[in-house]
Amino acid sequence: MMRHLLSMDDLGPEEITEVLDTAAGFAGVALRPIKKVPTLRGRTVCNLFYEDSTRTRISFEIAEKRLSADVINFSAKGSSVSKGESLKDTALTLQAMGVDAIVIRHWAAGAPEQLTRWVDAKVLNAGDGAHQHPTQALLDLYTIRARLGRLEGLRAAVVGDVVHSRVARSVVRGLVTTGAEVTVVGPPTLVPERAEHWGASVSHDLDDLLPKIDVLYLLRVQSERMHRQFFPSPREYARLWGVDRDRLARLPEGAIVLHPGPMNRGVEITADVADAPSAVITEQVRNGIAVRMSCLYLLLGGEARPADDAGRAESGGREVPAGGRPRR
Ligand code: CP
Repeated sequence: MMRHLLSMDDLGPEEITEVLDTAAGFAGVALRPIKKVPTLRGRTVCNLFYEDSTRTRISFEIAEKRLSADVINFSAKGSSVSKGESLKDTALTLQAMGVDAIVIRHWAAGAPEQLTRWVDAKVLNAGDGAHQHPTQALLDLYTIRARLGRLEGLRAAVVGDVVHSRVARSVVRGLVTTGAEVTVVGPPTLVPERAEHWGASVSHDLDDLLPKIDVLYLLRVQSERMHRQFFPSPREYARLWGVDRDRLARLPEGAIVLHPGPMNRGVEITADVADAPSAVITEQVRNGIAVRMSCLYLLLGGEARPADDAGRAESGGREVPAGGRPRR
């Protein structure tokens, strides 16, 4: 594992497998009466959020608390950012306070990397502009592997608002790195020409692709990032690119549907598809906690503590089955 977790571009197949296998060990913690291990006891993690979040923020906080870290939540709203304080001065303040890790979400692409130049803490990117969202991709890979038993050789389509999507850039890279065959699909206005450089194919024909894929990954239409008109109307988008019951029926048996959330029900996905048995959207959310525990452990815990700490429950020092693996 590298010093920071900034981008899926930095992770090779072995490192991705290490994160997923370690997460599989941590998944058992959620099933225990006391959902806690002492791995990060005495470590301080700051969640530094300059942009709104529900899933990522809560998931990181639960992961940190399950690892017994001391957790500080910072939201730009209500902080000295509103008085004009810069990211650098905020970073130096956290550095002076001795935090061990910073989980950052920022509207500017590159902000997490910039942060690494100002602090000694480990930095985890929780989403930066339209650039990267590595823990989302890792939890997606975990969920696909858990459901379909493998990643290599799978055929995946990543559909919709690709151009504005850090999730697309991250999950496409993760799938390609682990040997899946990926096509990005959407209207020409929402699929960047560069997508072919990510190792994916590009298509503008969703209906042709549906019977040929194992994984259908739907992206949120990010209206808040659209400063011009990319399609005539949400209704038109839903008709051409949204997945409804009829399109769902065109998938091969056993295929699964993912969405990173938050969903625009009725636009990229209908309510009945979102709630269908083949949609694994709540599993993605559930798996995100174990995957983030794994990332925090591999960046922080494996270095300072004996590896078997990750496998010891808070109560009575009992072992958690397969809870965390030694750092290489
Ligand atoms: N998937 C995701 O990043 O969701 P949030 O914006 O709610 O964190």
